[in-house]
Amino acid sequence: MGSVVSAVLVLAGLGAFLALLLVLAEKRLASSGPVRLRINQGEPREVEGGEPLLSALKGQGIFIPSACGGRGSCGLCKVRILEGGGPLLPTETPHLSPEEIDNQVRLSCQVKVREAMALEIPESLLEVEEYPVRVEALTPCTYDTVKVRLGFEADAGFSFRAGQYVQVETPIYDGLSEPVYRAYSISSPPSETRFIELILRRVPRGICTTYVHELLLAGDRLKINGPYGDFYLRETQAEAVFIAGGSGLAPFEAILADMAERGIRKKATLFFGAVSRRDLYDQELLREYEEKIPGFRAVPALSKPAPEDQWEGETGLITEVVARGYESMAGMEGYLCGSPGMIDACIRVLTEKGIPEDRIYFDKFS
Ligand SMILES: Cc1cc2nc3c(=O)[nH]c(=O)nc-3n(C[C@H](O)[C@H](O)[C@H](O)COP(=O)(O)OP(=O)(O)OC[C@H]3O[C@@H](n4cnc5c(N)ncnc54)[C@H](O)[C@@H]3O)c2cc1C
Ligand code: FES
Repeated sequence: MGSVVSAVLVLAGLGAFLALLLVLAEKRLASSGPVRLRINQGEPREVEGGEPLLSALKGQGIFIPSACGGRGSCGLCKVRILEGGGPLLPTETPHLSPEEIDNQVRLSCQVKVREAMALEIPESLLEVEEYPVRVEALTPCTYDTVKVRLGFEADAGFSFRAGQYVQVETPIYDGLSEPVYRAYSISSPPSETRFIELILRRVPRGICTTYVHELLLAGDRLKINGPYGDFYLRETQAEAVFIAGGSGLAPFEAILADMAERGIRKKATLFFGAVSRRDLYDQELLREYEEKIPGFRAVPALSKPAPEDQWEGETGLITEVVARGYESMAGMEGYLCGSPGMIDACIRVLTEKGIPEDRIYFDKFS
């Protein structure tokens, strides 16, 4: 018995020693002094070695989408690393396709800057800027969803395409050690240049949504950066199906406003999935767009209507409702916004019904 205890103690000691060695090695590598980054073959820029590439780029005023705040779960912070960067990490591989790996695409939040690097970053991202904004209004949509109006300073010059998103910086509060960024789709139309509106659904214990729902007040100041994303309406003749879950209605509100204002003619049906009537919002607005946009129809659907809802509309999962609505969807385009689970399930239904994957556009609210 005594010898077993001694063996366990020796193994535990060895493990602790190895862990200490790893920490020391990490520290030594982390403080690697100034390092040169060359972006799109431009002049080299000097950054402090040791930090994640995502943060080093932010320090240079280059904002890469990072909806999960660098936790390696959103997969949005991709850049091409042509030189430097070290070996591919296990935390990166789930987010990279074989083609991306062949093309030296990496997750900038996972790669540490330790040696001179040559990067390729899309020009559209180099144009992204940070903007100070003032909270002009917080308007409840439902018990857990709020519409936030953020006003720009005069002549801020922010412009975007309907359907795109911004990143909101959540300032330090309640033990948060540094500001974090989260992505939110813009629900107001691009024609409105004085402010943007976002729709935020509360996530239990979520850093940004708890801040917005519990602490943010009209008059407060925030920082946003953007615009980002390629979720926008393709102006083709193809009929479109729009599918939104919860706060996923936000980019469709911008797209519909834009269609109405610019007289875009495209047959489109919006399926808006919610649990019960208390989760629905902006239904009056959707009715107005049915009047204003020829060929547009909105179909709210409840997965679990409460008895007091007296609901006579569509019921079931949004995938079931969409599948019931079409014999075939060949020749159509799909636009999806909501939780990753909902998007994956919808992609399965749309492809089974005949929409090829390259005609399905989505933003996963991961
Ligand atoms: C392109 C894009 C656009 C987006 N647009 C919107 C939008 O318009 N409106 C909107 O409300 N959100 C949107 N999101 C989601 C948003 O960016 C945040 O992920 C979300 O608000 C949670 O942030 P948080 O800081 O409150 O929670 P976090 O602190 O990030 O998360 C706390 C915990 O909750 C889990 N979690 C995170 N998100 C969810 C979720 N949705 N449901 C359940 N658990 C979750 C996390 O895994 C974590 O364990 C978008 C995301 C992307 C990528
Ligand atoms: S910031 Fe989300 S994976 Fe890198």
